[in-house]
Amino acid sequence: MVTSAGVLHAAVDGRGLRLYRAAPMTHPPNPPELLEEQVKQRPLPRHVGIIMDGNGRWAEERGLPRLEGHREGSISVREVTRAARRLGMSALTLYAFSSQNWARPAEEVAGLMDLLREYLEEERPEILENNIRLHAIGELDRLPRLVREPLERLRADSAGNTGMVLTLALSYGGREELLRAARALAEAAVRGELQPKALTEVDLERQLWTHGLPALDLVIRTSGEQRISNFLLWQAAYAELVFTPALWPDFRAPAFLSCVAEYQQRERRYGQTSAQVKRDDPVRAPA
Ligand code: FPP
Repeated sequence: MVTSAGVLHAAVDGRGLRLYRAAPMTHPPNPPELLEEQVKQRPLPRHVGIIMDGNGRWAEERGLPRLEGHREGSISVREVTRAARRLGMSALTLYAFSSQNWARPAEEVAGLMDLLREYLEEERPEILENNIRLHAIGELDRLPRLVREPLERLRADSAGNTGMVLTLALSYGGREELLRAARALAEAAVRGELQPKALTEVDLERQLWTHGLPALDLVIRTSGEQRISNFLLWQAAYAELVFTPALWPDFRAPAFLSCVAEYQQRERRYGQTSAQVKRDDPVRAPA
């Protein structure tokens, strides 16, 4: 858990629940530049996914319309993307609009679509200049033309970029993605192109929208909620999870760096024992 005072770890022992501070590495008051240098020196997560939550609460706390929270949240999107790029991360996936978000009031949905269009137009030069490849996952055909057009244009124009893949999850749902993959595989089986018994994880992964992206190493969720909410369900199987109470509009580069530093202190075992991991046995990371 990341608090304004640093990263808190929880442990249960004979005396009940104890909270203790993480090792000094992730401690504020490390200036952000120093933390960034420290984070750069350790293995980075290849692919980070973020559930950007708390825009509405941020606005409500200030007596502002919810859309103002989303607008302020766009600034966090820009700052976190810049920080990820500076670190040299391979892939960043942002949960910008879920399949379930269509059920929000029409005015909020329309405001979010306008914000997405603005973002795609305003960030276009920076994305291209920084060698970022923009990608999108989800039921993109449900998006209005005013979003689809700038999205497709930027996707096509950045397709050759090699620096970092920035994926926007738009009209995205993990169950919807898995259902679509199951349908495609069933249809291939009916056509006789696939033997159900021979089906592998790789076959299924090939049908996912995230096909070709690196393995998801870290999922961050802001706003204090501790759930996955239909985000990258298959891909998160072995991801580390970091939950922070910061509301998304308050989550800027230093908060992001703290979450990555927290990840760097975790021991990833992929089902093996700690002793096996500490010996030099190769730990096999599922794809
Ligand atoms: C969740 O907060 C956030 C969303 C549903 C939308 C996320 C959108 C942005 C961050 C801005 C636009 C995106 C881009 C990529 C420019 P919430 O509204 O559920 O907050 P609450 O739980 O406090 O109500």
